[in-house]
Amino acid sequence: MSHNEQQDSAHKPVKRKEMSRRQFLSYTLGGATAFMAGGVVLPMLRFAVDPILVKKEEGGFVKVIEESKVTTEPQQIGFKVHQVDGWYESDPKMEAYIAKGEDGKVFALSPVCKHLGCTIGWSGEEAPNEYHCPCHGARYTKDGKNLKVAPKPLDEYQVKIENGWVYLGPLEANTRV
Ligand code: FES
Repeated sequence: MSHNEQQDSAHKPVKRKEMSRRQFLSYTLGGATAFMAGGVVLPMLRFAVDPILVKKEEGGFVKVIEESKVTTEPQQIGFKVHQVDGWYESDPKMEAYIAKGEDGKVFALSPVCKHLGCTIGWSGEEAPNEYHCPCHGARYTKDGKNLKVAPKPLDEYQVKIENGWVYLGPLEANTRV
């Protein structure tokens, strides 16, 4: 490059790519609109999704009966469990058959038949010292072992004893049979 050419290019005004007024306005308005929409939509999204992200509350233990009142003969007991699932809170009524085993330990069984979910009963003329289901005739031993019709043993509640009281927790597969 000659000396003259260098001087020319040094004095040429730098060409800038200029933004038109229209472009400036549309960028500004677009940005402001997106910002405001985000302010409205994000809290709504958070509200909608939040309960799904929160860990489901584990079923706690519920105080149901004094340990001294539990006998070897199963007793039917009703109790309520507080549940929180997302936005929904409820206190469903639960039932259990509670008794002491041969080992003297307290255990509690679900009264829901493992055939099709009817409510079982304990003992009586047609099934002495057994659980029986009125729907299709399932039978279970005192420990919940399935004797006929039902494909599985009765479910068992987790049990803990504290200060002379029996507490029932979540249901699990029968551990006694
Ligand atoms: S539901 Fe109990 S025997 Fe069918």
